[in-house]
Amino acid sequence: MQANQEMYDRFGVAYHAKRGREQDSAWNRYLDQPMIEALLAGITPCKVADLGCGSGLLSRWLKDRGFDVTGADFSQSLVDIARGENPDIGFCVADIKSTPYPADSFALIVSALVVHYEQDLAPVFAEIARILQPGGQLVFSMHHPLDEVTSMGTRIDDGRKVRPYFHNDPYQFQMAGMDLTAYHHTFENIAQALFANGFVIEDLREARMIEAAKEKFPEYYERTNQYPSFVGFRASLRLDR
Ligand SMILES: C[S@@+](CC[C@H](N)C(=O)[O-])C[C@H]1O[C@@H](n2cnc3c(N)ncnc32)[C@H](O)[C@@H]1O
Repeated sequence: MQANQEMYDRFGVAYHAKRGREQDSAWNRYLDQPMIEALLAGITPCKVADLGCGSGLLSRWLKDRGFDVTGADFSQSLVDIARGENPDIGFCVADIKSTPYPADSFALIVSALVVHYEQDLAPVFAEIARILQPGGQLVFSMHHPLDEVTSMGTRIDDGRKVRPYFHNDPYQFQMAGMDLTAYHHTFENIAQALFANGFVIEDLREARMIEAAKEKFPEYYERTNQYPSFVGFRASLRLDR
């Protein structure tokens, strides 16, 4: 995990630059973001924390739609960029498992493409449950459980079409010059970590690149409409947790 933090710190500027280029950020813009928006549909502006906010792009999107947003990320360099780009939003450097926010601070937590960096999801959802008000909602996206199993070009190919599913092992991948480590999670593992921390799953989406990107990014469109890539959840915190 510390290695991931060092990577995001060292490559923060390159990562933010990549997110600004349409070609290099197609998976965020046309795959993850539309799924997050679908999961947020119907949630009215409220007090929200964006955990693992990176350079603050989703925080910005929320702020522009009237949400009272604050962001946290464990990368100092990404938080510096987020602050520079969004002087009207508060950001802090913090690990998703130990944030500085008081208990019951937020009506909504969002976290886009962060939790797959954690092997054990229980402490992540425990911290989110602590800072979320009872009845509050959590919207998050992560690598799809079948993504690791059905192979990606940047990962080691052992010749099998489908790799083992029932494990919680690390895997390596590359992005924007970074060598990153993430952890495979089964659907059961994700759901049980949510349930154990008082959450009820309200919605689940499997991202597919939107039609509007089909002409510009035909390969990505075809691949992400055939193979799982990202999954998104909306969960709410039980009132009696
Ligand atoms: C793929 S980026 C996504 C950034 C942002 N959520 C977005 O969608 O633009 C993953 C982010 O998670 C952050 N991150 C990973 N593990 C974290 C942790 N344990 N605590 C806080 N931030 C973390 C990284 O620093 C990075 O900014």
